[in-house]
Amino acid sequence: MSKKIGILTGGGDCPGLNPAIRGVVFKAIDYDFKTFGIQEGWRGLIEGNILPLRLGDVEDIIDCGGTVLGASRVNPYKVDGGIEKVLANIKEHKLDALIAMGGEDTLGMANKLSKEVGVNIVGVPKTMDNDISGTDYTFGFDSSVTRAMDAMKSLKDTGRSHRRIMVLEVMGRHAGWVALFTGISSGADWILIPEVETNFSKMYQHLLNVYKRKKYALVVTAEGIETPEMKIGKEELDQFGHMILRKRKVGENLAQLINEKTGIETRSAVIGHMQRGGPPTLFDRILGTRCGVKAADLVAQEKFGRMVALRGNEIIDISLDEAVAKLKIVNERWWNLAKVFFK
Ligand code: F6P
Repeated sequence: MSKKIGILTGGGDCPGLNPAIRGVVFKAIDYDFKTFGIQEGWRGLIEGNILPLRLGDVEDIIDCGGTVLGASRVNPYKVDGGIEKVLANIKEHKLDALIAMGGEDTLGMANKLSKEVGVNIVGVPKTMDNDISGTDYTFGFDSSVTRAMDAMKSLKDTGRSHRRIMVLEVMGRHAGWVALFTGISSGADWILIPEVETNFSKMYQHLLNVYKRKKYALVVTAEGIETPEMKIGKEELDQFGHMILRKRKVGENLAQLINEKTGIETRSAVIGHMQRGGPPTLFDRILGTRCGVKAADLVAQEKFGRMVALRGNEIIDISLDEAVAKLKIVNERWWNLAKVFFK
């Protein structure tokens, strides 16, 4: 039976979303399904901004970053009559199923709508933060870390010339995956992640030792770290209640501290949203494509309330409940790998 599928991309964008959208649309053709693009995440479903999404709209987007559907951090539960409007628009546009591509917030919302109001939903995990449970990697992560790794190479060149310590602040919210992988892959001398409390005096001493040896040092910090010594700025929350972490200027504060405590000239840089844009890497193009195709399969099999996931090299599906139960954060095994290189 032919179905109408609405696709939305919620939360922060990331490379890999366009390959995933393309994957759904191409696979839907095999099932004789019609696909619709819900514009700008949940906002599009609240406002009824839903447009047909055809082969011609997606065939050229595999190499494009961002999302052709637009994204927003709008939470229907925070909008007056939001859920009623969502349901009314699903009915009006005769959507048989939704494919919600997003991170913890979008998938949490998908799970709520599936469980509480019986919407037929399939989730696709995407986030540069790589913090979704039940899936080994999310698309967006590889591209973002690749961008951050390139930035580290530039910082290393200038840091080495000027005999400085260079600090790079990366995104990742409350998970340290981006900082950890950036640090390991670029030969950083110290990495700060939210999951592990930093011993600051040990870090200063370590950087002094490294500096003695090579006359420069590299530090990567996650935006989500906490330290009582830093001047934490006024915290703003988004509609899902998340702190806007970049406003705390963690990298800048850390560089000042290192400069003061070691006496070595230290500079900081924030790669910011540059790590979230640009073309997806090979890994993210393939993962996005596989996730999109699998999501269309799940709709065909009427496996709703499920999320596509990568386990090893297999694309499987798991319950949305399992996926949103808790954040996937850096574990001891990964941290131990990073520590091997703090010498
Ligand atoms: O969740 C993805 C992410 O890039 C986080 O790493 C970061 O904290 C946040 O989004 C930034 O959000 P915004 O684009 O709304 O500033």
